[in-house]
Amino acid sequence: MPPSSGSNGPLPLFPPGFLWGAAASAFQTEGAADTDGKGPSGWDAFAAQGRIKDGADPARATGFHERYRDDVALLAGLGADAFRFSISWPRVIPGGGGPVNAAGLDFYDRLVDELCARGIAPAPTLYHWDTPLALEETGGWLNRDTAARFADYASAVAGRLGDRVPMWITVNEPAEVTLLGYALGEHAPGRRLLFDALPAAHHQLLAHGLGVQALRAAGARNIGLALSHSPVWTAGGSEADRTAAELYDTLTNWLFADPVLTGGYPDENLAALMPGPVAEDLAVISAPLDWYGVNYYHPMLVGVPTAAEPGGFAGVGLPEGLPFGLRGIDSAERTDFGWPVVPDGLREMLLRLKDRFGDRLPPLHITENGCSYGGLDDQRRIAYLDSHLRALHRAVEEGVDVRGYFTWSLTDNIEWAEGAAQRFGLVHIDFETLERTPKASYAWYRETIAAQRARG
Ligand code: NOJ
Repeated sequence: MPPSSGSNGPLPLFPPGFLWGAAASAFQTEGAADTDGKGPSGWDAFAAQGRIKDGADPARATGFHERYRDDVALLAGLGADAFRFSISWPRVIPGGGGPVNAAGLDFYDRLVDELCARGIAPAPTLYHWDTPLALEETGGWLNRDTAARFADYASAVAGRLGDRVPMWITVNEPAEVTLLGYALGEHAPGRRLLFDALPAAHHQLLAHGLGVQALRAAGARNIGLALSHSPVWTAGGSEADRTAAELYDTLTNWLFADPVLTGGYPDENLAALMPGPVAEDLAVISAPLDWYGVNYYHPMLVGVPTAAEPGGFAGVGLPEGLPFGLRGIDSAERTDFGWPVVPDGLREMLLRLKDRFGDRLPPLHITENGCSYGGLDDQRRIAYLDSHLRALHRAVEEGVDVRGYFTWSLTDNIEWAEGAAQRFGLVHIDFETLERTPKASYAWYRETIAAQRARG
């Protein structure tokens, strides 16, 4: 499939050494749900309850566990500098705590070797949502002990892979786990605790902090995390709308970023709702990081809930009774997921981060950015990526220190509860045969990377 030449001409040149990558996660791609002693995850159990749309089968997913060499070859064909993948905690420690499953860890050893042999930097995420079921059954992230178990797991992985991994990600999007998994019940573990879900946020933050300690003790270098960020815009002009939008902004953008980067919660009232020795924990959570990862998809428009728009879009239905409601953004272009396409939202968010944290903000990586569109001649994905990279470049010109960009995702995969229908890949997956077919966007990304190198 030929790439679109793009009507905007070549992208402006990114700084020297800028990393060009692609991202994926274990549950969404690996399959092999009980191969070589892997234990079940909370997501395996959620799938078994029929909570994944269209019956997409995570025991198969894209077959990455078997076909990882094919996917590494695709990454090499792209000329990617780095691959962000995740390690399945229940593959490595099937019971969540306790003995390490050497055969499970062997898989990541092979994957890392394969990436290194092709000159692609492995960038593993330790937690991308697949909590071991055994831990989920004792409260999951509501239980402080889960954070300690995570540190043991981080130590085991770093002990085995640390000599070859140049870049680590502790946790991915704890805000979504808290909101969708524990507050609204749309993701595993399907709890609907609303504001009582907040301890899950604190314990994931603690897991991050303890994980950083464990990684550093094992000699790992270049540690960061991946947090979702969306600029929150206020819908309507009333004071109540502004308050609603501010609360939403606090909960989604700052509840995780502030503790990690400043050592404090954004609001005293929130801090008071957190369990355990919060001040001591915050000292652990805010240990210095080498870099900070931003996942960006689109902005949010938020106001008080109204009868006409009780809230919810993009697959997220907010229950009645919450103090805020999400509104549809008036955007000319929407992805197949219904998400508005607002490239400048990325620039706006990066400037907000710089503004809020100043010198405390470490160098950034865009750890996810991408869109769901069907078809092989995916010109709309090319337009999305092109426009977002231009917005990113503007942010760099305005002084934001961004060192790399990982597009979501290398291949189509299981989009969590939405199943296989939402296609985020540069490479098409036939979920019957697991055949991989590069899309037009794959060729476009390859040429974009090559052009940057030729000029850099
Ligand atoms: C964020 C998550 O980290 C990833 O797993 C998911 O597929 C993408 N967003 C798209 O929703």
